[in-house]
Amino acid sequence: MDKLQKEIKIAASILSADFSNLGNELKAVDDAGVDMIHIDVMDGSFVPNITLGAPVVSKIRPFTEKQFDVHLMINNPGKHVDDFCKAGSDIITIHLEADEHPIRTLEYIRLKGIKAGVSINPATHESNLEYVLDYCDMILIMLVNPGFGGQKTITSQIKKLEKIRSLIDKNGNKIELEVDGGVNKDNSKSLFNAGADILVAGNSIFKDGPEFYKKNISTLKKL
Ligand code: DX5
Ligand code: ZN
Repeated sequence: MDKLQKEIKIAASILSADFSNLGNELKAVDDAGVDMIHIDVMDGSFVPNITLGAPVVSKIRPFTEKQFDVHLMINNPGKHVDDFCKAGSDIITIHLEADEHPIRTLEYIRLKGIKAGVSINPATHESNLEYVLDYCDMILIMLVNPGFGGQKTITSQIKKLEKIRSLIDKNGNKIELEVDGGVNKDNSKSLFNAGADILVAGNSIFKDGPEFYKKNISTLKKL
Protein backbone atom coordinates (compact mmCIF):
# COMPACT_ATOMS: atom_id res chain seq x y z
CA MET A 1 0.00 0.00 0.00
CA ASP A 2 1.19 3.51 -0.78
CA LYS A 3 2.22 4.99 2.55
CA LEU A 4 1.50 8.53 1.38
CA GLN A 5 -2.13 7.69 0.72
CA LYS A 6 -2.72 6.01 4.05
CA GLU A 7 -3.98 8.17 6.88
CA ILE A 8 -3.01 7.31 10.39
CA LYS A 9 -5.81 6.91 12.94
CA ILE A 10 -5.50 8.22 16.48
CA ALA A 11 -7.15 6.45 19.42
CA ALA A 12 -7.35 8.52 22.60
CA SER A 13 -6.55 6.46 25.69
CA ILE A 14 -8.87 7.71 28.41
CA LEU A 15 -6.52 6.41 31.10
CA SER A 16 -4.95 9.88 31.07
CA ALA A 17 -8.30 11.72 31.02
CA ASP A 18 -10.03 13.30 34.02
CA PHE A 19 -11.93 10.31 35.48
CA SER A 20 -14.26 12.62 37.42
CA ASN A 21 -15.46 14.09 34.15
CA LEU A 22 -15.20 11.24 31.64
CA GLY A 23 -18.30 12.02 29.60
CA ASN A 24 -17.17 15.55 28.83
CA GLU A 25 -13.63 14.36 28.17
CA LEU A 26 -14.99 12.02 25.50
CA LYS A 27 -16.97 14.85 23.90
CA ALA A 28 -13.88 17.05 23.94
CA VAL A 29 -11.58 14.54 22.19
CA ASP A 30 -14.37 13.70 19.74
CA ASP A 31 -14.72 17.41 18.84
CA ALA A 32 -10.93 17.67 18.65
CA GLY A 33 -10.87 15.11 15.83
CA VAL A 34 -9.86 11.84 17.41
CA ASP A 35 -10.75 8.69 15.44
CA MET A 36 -11.38 6.19 18.23
CA ILE A 37 -11.71 6.01 22.01
CA HIS A 38 -9.28 3.56 23.61
CA ILE A 39 -10.51 2.19 26.93
CA ASP A 40 -7.96 0.47 29.17
CA VAL A 41 -9.49 -2.18 31.42
CA MET A 42 -7.11 -3.49 34.09
CA ASP A 43 -7.76 -6.13 36.73
CA GLY A 44 -4.92 -5.76 39.24
CA SER A 45 -3.85 -9.32 38.38
CA PHE A 46 -2.71 -9.51 34.76
CA VAL A 47 -1.37 -5.99 35.29
CA PRO A 48 -0.62 -4.24 38.60
CA ASN A 49 -3.25 -1.53 38.22
CA ILE A 50 -7.08 -1.56 38.45
CA THR A 51 -9.13 0.80 36.29
CA LEU A 52 -12.77 0.34 35.30
CA GLY A 53 -15.30 -2.24 34.21
CA ALA A 54 -18.24 -2.70 31.85
CA PRO A 55 -20.72 -0.59 33.92
CA VAL A 56 -18.51 2.48 33.42
CA VAL A 57 -18.17 1.74 29.70
CA SER A 58 -21.93 1.63 29.31
CA LYS A 59 -22.35 4.91 31.23
CA ILE A 60 -19.92 6.79 28.97
CA ARG A 61 -21.21 5.20 25.75
CA PRO A 62 -23.82 7.94 25.01
CA PHE A 63 -21.25 10.75 25.01
CA THR A 64 -19.74 9.97 21.59
CA GLU A 65 -20.40 7.93 18.46
CA LYS A 66 -16.69 7.25 17.91
CA GLN A 67 -15.64 3.61 18.04
CA PHE A 68 -14.99 2.18 21.50
CA ASP A 69 -11.70 0.28 21.29
CA VAL A 70 -11.68 -1.74 24.50
CA HIS A 71 -8.27 -3.05 25.60
CA LEU A 72 -8.74 -5.84 28.13
CA MET A 73 -5.65 -6.20 30.30
CA ILE A 74 -7.34 -8.89 32.38
CA ASN A 75 -6.86 -12.59 33.00
CA ASN A 76 -9.42 -14.95 31.43
CA PRO A 77 -10.93 -12.19 29.26
CA GLY A 78 -13.43 -14.61 27.70
CA LYS A 79 -15.51 -14.49 30.88
CA HIS A 80 -16.20 -10.79 30.37
CA VAL A 81 -16.85 -10.54 26.62
CA ASP A 82 -20.64 -10.54 27.00
CA ASP A 83 -20.56 -7.66 29.49
CA PHE A 84 -18.23 -5.47 27.43
CA CYS A 85 -20.23 -6.21 24.30
CA LYS A 86 -23.46 -5.18 25.96
CA ALA A 87 -21.77 -2.03 27.25
CA GLY A 88 -21.21 -0.85 23.67
CA SER A 89 -17.73 -1.95 22.59
CA ASP A 90 -16.92 -1.86 18.88
CA ILE A 91 -13.60 -3.69 19.22
CA ILE A 92 -12.56 -5.94 22.08
CA THR A 93 -8.87 -6.73 22.37
CA ILE A 94 -7.58 -9.55 24.55
CA HIS A 95 -4.00 -10.32 25.55
CA LEU A 96 -2.52 -13.50 24.14
CA GLU A 97 -0.68 -13.99 27.46
CA ALA A 98 -3.90 -13.76 29.50
CA ASP A 99 -5.97 -16.41 27.76
CA GLU A 100 -5.33 -20.17 27.58
CA HIS A 101 -7.58 -20.43 24.52
CA PRO A 102 -7.33 -17.15 22.64
CA ILE A 103 -8.74 -18.52 19.37
CA ARG A 104 -11.94 -19.56 21.14
CA THR A 105 -12.31 -16.11 22.70
CA LEU A 106 -11.56 -14.27 19.44
CA GLU A 107 -14.15 -16.36 17.62
CA TYR A 108 -16.65 -15.62 20.36
CA ILE A 109 -16.05 -11.86 20.10
CA ARG A 110 -16.65 -12.01 16.35
CA LEU A 111 -19.75 -14.08 16.87
CA LYS A 112 -21.11 -11.16 18.87
CA GLY A 113 -20.84 -9.03 15.71
CA ILE A 114 -17.94 -6.83 16.76
CA LYS A 115 -14.24 -6.74 15.93
CA ALA A 116 -11.76 -8.96 17.72
CA GLY A 117 -8.28 -7.76 18.59
CA VAL A 118 -5.27 -9.52 20.03
CA SER A 119 -2.44 -7.87 21.92
CA ILE A 120 1.07 -8.93 22.91
CA ASN A 121 3.37 -7.59 25.61
CA PRO A 122 6.86 -6.28 24.82
CA ALA A 123 8.54 -9.56 25.85
CA THR A 124 6.28 -11.76 23.72
CA HIS A 125 7.74 -12.85 20.39
CA GLU A 126 5.81 -11.94 17.25
CA SER A 127 5.81 -15.58 16.05
CA ASN A 128 3.13 -16.25 18.70
CA LEU A 129 0.70 -14.36 16.49
CA GLU A 130 1.03 -16.72 13.55
CA TYR A 131 -1.83 -19.02 14.51
CA VAL A 132 -4.27 -16.29 15.51
CA LEU A 133 -4.01 -14.20 12.35
CA ASP A 134 -7.09 -15.80 10.84
CA TYR A 135 -9.19 -14.99 13.89
CA CYS A 136 -8.55 -11.30 14.48
CA ASP A 137 -9.39 -7.93 12.96
CA MET A 138 -6.75 -6.01 14.87
CA ILE A 139 -3.33 -6.61 16.41
CA LEU A 140 -2.29 -4.33 19.27
CA ILE A 141 1.43 -4.17 19.94
CA MET A 142 2.30 -2.99 23.43
CA LEU A 143 5.25 -0.62 23.27
CA VAL A 144 5.45 -0.53 27.09
CA ASN A 145 4.73 -3.07 29.82
CA PRO A 146 0.99 -2.61 30.27
CA GLY A 147 -0.45 -1.17 33.47
CA PHE A 148 0.19 2.55 33.45
CA GLY A 149 -0.03 5.58 31.21
CA GLY A 150 2.81 8.01 30.66
CA GLN A 151 5.62 5.46 30.18
CA LYS A 152 8.42 5.62 27.64
CA THR A 153 8.26 3.45 24.49
CA ILE A 154 10.65 0.48 24.56
CA THR A 155 12.55 1.08 21.34
CA SER A 156 13.12 -2.62 20.52
CA GLN A 157 9.39 -2.82 19.81
CA ILE A 158 9.74 -0.82 16.60
CA LYS A 159 11.66 -3.71 14.97
CA LYS A 160 8.89 -6.02 16.15
CA LEU A 161 6.29 -3.71 14.63
CA GLU A 162 8.02 -3.96 11.24
CA LYS A 163 8.06 -7.75 11.47
CA ILE A 164 4.37 -7.93 12.38
CA ARG A 165 3.53 -5.54 9.52
CA SER A 166 5.07 -7.98 7.05
CA LEU A 167 3.39 -10.94 8.77
CA ILE A 168 0.02 -9.23 8.21
CA ASP A 169 0.82 -8.21 4.64
CA LYS A 170 1.87 -11.77 3.78
CA ASN A 171 -1.23 -13.22 5.41
CA GLY A 172 -3.50 -10.97 3.33
CA ASN A 173 -6.36 -10.72 5.85
CA LYS A 174 -7.71 -7.28 6.65
CA ILE A 175 -6.07 -6.70 10.02
CA GLU A 176 -5.41 -3.27 11.48
CA LEU A 177 -2.16 -2.75 13.34
CA GLU A 178 -2.34 -0.62 16.48
CA VAL A 179 0.48 0.45 18.80
CA ASP A 180 0.12 1.51 22.42
CA GLY A 181 2.46 3.06 24.98
CA GLY A 182 4.56 6.19 24.99
CA VAL A 183 3.32 7.44 21.61
CA ASN A 184 4.19 11.12 21.15
CA LYS A 185 5.04 13.70 18.50
CA ASP A 186 8.67 12.55 18.38
CA ASN A 187 8.02 8.89 17.59
CA SER A 188 4.67 8.97 15.74
CA LYS A 189 6.34 9.23 12.34
CA SER A 190 8.68 6.30 12.89
CA LEU A 191 5.80 4.20 14.20
CA PHE A 192 3.79 5.03 11.08
CA ASN A 193 6.76 4.25 8.84
CA ALA A 194 7.26 0.94 10.63
CA GLY A 195 3.70 -0.03 9.71
CA ALA A 196 1.25 1.18 12.34
CA ASP A 197 -2.32 1.97 11.23
CA ILE A 198 -3.57 3.25 14.59
CA LEU A 199 -1.65 5.12 17.29
CA VAL A 200 -3.00 4.97 20.83
CA ALA A 201 -2.14 8.11 22.76
CA GLY A 202 -2.96 8.99 26.34
CA ASN A 203 -0.56 11.35 27.96
CA SER A 204 0.42 13.12 24.75
CA ILE A 205 -3.22 14.10 24.09
CA PHE A 206 -4.55 14.79 27.60
CA LYS A 207 -1.50 16.25 29.35
CA ASP A 208 -2.17 19.94 28.65
CA GLY A 209 -5.95 20.16 29.25
CA PRO A 210 -8.94 20.32 26.85
CA GLU A 211 -7.94 23.50 25.04
CA PHE A 212 -4.92 21.64 23.64
CA TYR A 213 -6.60 18.39 22.54
CA LYS A 214 -7.11 19.54 18.97
CA LYS A 215 -3.54 20.73 18.60
CA ASN A 216 -2.13 17.59 20.24
CA ILE A 217 -4.17 15.26 18.01
CA SER A 218 -3.27 17.09 14.82
CA THR A 219 0.40 17.12 15.80
CA LEU A 220 0.28 13.33 16.10
CA LYS A 221 -1.40 13.08 12.70
CA LYS A 222 1.19 15.30 11.02
CA LEU A 223 3.55 12.82 9.47
C1 DX5 B 1 -0.94 1.06 29.12
C2 DX5 B 1 -2.21 1.29 28.37
C3 DX5 B 1 -2.12 2.40 27.42
C4 DX5 B 1 -1.81 3.72 28.03
C5 DX5 B 1 -1.17 4.61 27.01
O1 DX5 B 1 -1.00 -0.11 29.84
O2 DX5 B 1 -2.59 0.14 27.64
O3 DX5 B 1 -3.27 2.50 26.59
O4 DX5 B 1 -2.91 4.36 28.58
O5 DX5 B 1 -0.84 5.79 27.62
P1 DX5 B 1 0.36 6.68 27.12
O6 DX5 B 1 0.05 7.11 25.73
O7 DX5 B 1 0.37 7.80 28.09
O8 DX5 B 1 1.62 5.83 27.19
ZN1 ZN C 1 -4.17 0.38 26.04
